[in-house]
Amino acid sequence: MQQVFTKAMARNIFLGGAVFFIAIYLMLSYDTWQRIPARDHADKMTPAVLRGKYLLDTNDCIGCHTINGEGAYFAPELGNVYKRRGPEFISAWIQAQPTNMPGRRQMPNFHFTQAQLDDLVAYLQWLSNVDTNNWPPNIQG
Ligand code: HEC
Repeated sequence: MQQVFTKAMARNIFLGGAVFFIAIYLMLSYDTWQRIPARDHADKMTPAVLRGKYLLDTNDCIGCHTINGEGAYFAPELGNVYKRRGPEFISAWIQAQPTNMPGRRQMPNFHFTQAQLDDLVAYLQWLSNVDTNNWPPNIQG
């Protein structure tokens, strides 16, 4: 006997598929939310880290730079600069601006105090330990 594909069968396939994939979606979302505290390590935000973040935000560093890919594409990524350059380089670099090297893009001098530079470095270090699956890739420029 020939099998007839009815509207009811089509609806059941649609509804069954929808329920199945919604369940997978909810399970994966739950799994992701469970992992966030370990990945963003927000509990390790010390007062110095918060002060450094405030300096980055109020001096519009992402008007030129990106942080984890967000921001402007004029200057290098800052989310992983701590791993790329280390604390001494970052402090010295910020103090030595602008380089006035012909043909290179320039960064202004912000006249930070040593305490402010230490806070910026503390924030950039904290940022470099956020687990982003190594995204964006760390490129030495
Ligand atoms: C007007 C644009 C501009 C602003 C605003 C700016 N920068 Fe930069 N920055 C640059 C450019 C351009 C470079 C790369 C220059 C070069 O390679 O010669 C750079 C490089 C750097 C580097 C070295 C990156 C590396 O990979 O070696 C650090 C660290 C840095 N900036 C931190 C900061 C911080 C912190 C702020 C905010 C307080 C800031 N920048 C604001 C333009 C800017």
